[in-house]
Amino acid sequence: MTTLALNNVRPYGEDETNILIDVDAGVIDSIDGTACTDADEVIDCGGKILLPGLVDMHVHLREPGREDTETIATGSDAAAKGGFTAVFTMANTQPVIDQPFLADAVWEKGQAYGKCDVYPVGSMTKGLKGESLTEIGLMSRGHVKMFSDDGRCVNDPQLMRRAIEYAKAYDVVLAQHAEDHRMTDGACAHEGENAARLGLRGWPRVAEESIVARDLIMTRDYGGRYHLCHASTEGTVSLLRWAKAQGVDVSAEVTPHHLLLTDEKLESFDGVYRVNPPLRENRDTVALRDALLDGTIDVVATDHAPHGSEDKCVEFENAKPGMIGLETSLAIIAKVFVESGLADWRFVAKVMSERPAEILRLADQGRPIEVGEPANLTLVDPEAAWTARGEEMASKSTNTPYEGSEFSARVVGTWLRGAQTFDAVGNGTN
Ligand code: DOR
Ligand code: ZN
Ligand code: ZN
Repeated sequence: MTTLALNNVRPYGEDETNILIDVDAGVIDSIDGTACTDADEVIDCGGKILLPGLVDMHVHLREPGREDTETIATGSDAAAKGGFTAVFTMANTQPVIDQPFLADAVWEKGQAYGKCDVYPVGSMTKGLKGESLTEIGLMSRGHVKMFSDDGRCVNDPQLMRRAIEYAKAYDVVLAQHAEDHRMTDGACAHEGENAARLGLRGWPRVAEESIVARDLIMTRDYGGRYHLCHASTEGTVSLLRWAKAQGVDVSAEVTPHHLLLTDEKLESFDGVYRVNPPLRENRDTVALRDALLDGTIDVVATDHAPHGSEDKCVEFENAKPGMIGLETSLAIIAKVFVESGLADWRFVAKVMSERPAEILRLADQGRPIEVGEPANLTLVDPEAAWTARGEEMASKSTNTPYEGSEFSARVVGTWLRGAQTFDAVGNGTN
């Protein structure tokens, strides 16, 4: 048995202990009070925090089609560096992931690279055109656990109803990008005082909330596993609260940028702040934080959306929407919730690993740090004091809205089934 000892770690930021991993089996072999010094590899973790490997339900790895901005390999590197052991990559590639062989190719490439489990998301409609449904059943027999037209909303209510019914029959998750496109034509920023003053066309909250309301009612009446992508408004939070209070079984995500940034950033006219849905106002940010804390919103997902400088370093209204997020997500969630005293590391494990794994029914992710469980693990230094720099990121793109921002918490090691996929300190195997 090849072994790895992680000595002096604090699982969930709690009591210090020592963990021995059976690397061949990829599982935790023992956890006890005595440090193991004769393992094949011994790492003294010096009291750093150990979390279950993070799971991101929403990323864009751009392969196939835009490998100049990200690939499954570079996206897996960025994921591992951010502490993730599983990610779900959206279907809005070129070609769109709307057939089983395309989805299989994404999965196989991720597995061959081996740094992160890359789950393909299948599109709900062929070519993301919003006209006819894909072969949801066929794709679900492969590696597709979730379907989404993300980047676009399934606007047509009748088509959405059919998608819900099919998804229910095949027991898969439907993830909606809620945006009534008829209300956002030409819009590039949150409709509010800032956009009005700066002369930017606005994307009103109601364009999101009207779709959320409709979809929640459909889920109430037709069932199925509905997931809301990137909730961005106070009103969306109220609607989710209403649905959950009635027992409607839905889940929702929020991005780190909607938790931390507001439309005050528009002042700079910097295209790096263009994102869809747009950065909103302080009251939205506050409502989203409260909703994540009380479980109205289930998970954090990055919506990691790499774009090249030719699409970002242009006039604000011409910039493509999207921000990279895999390598800053944990630091932001630690800052907003742990360093502020609002929550603890158990909460971080819940919203960034356990709940997403539960929603997608991943048997081997988001598991407790216990003997016999898969060694999908993330080591965090809560006091690393580091500065975000796009150029230093593993992602192939540099469109981070946090350029030059200082953070405390940093991922320093990631293990996927016992194999180290990221090592910040150079004392591991990788
Ligand atoms: O900001 C966004 N970028 N929102 C989306 O829905 C799509 C994504 C992308 O693909 O760039
Ligand atoms: Zn989206
Ligand atoms: Zn997205």
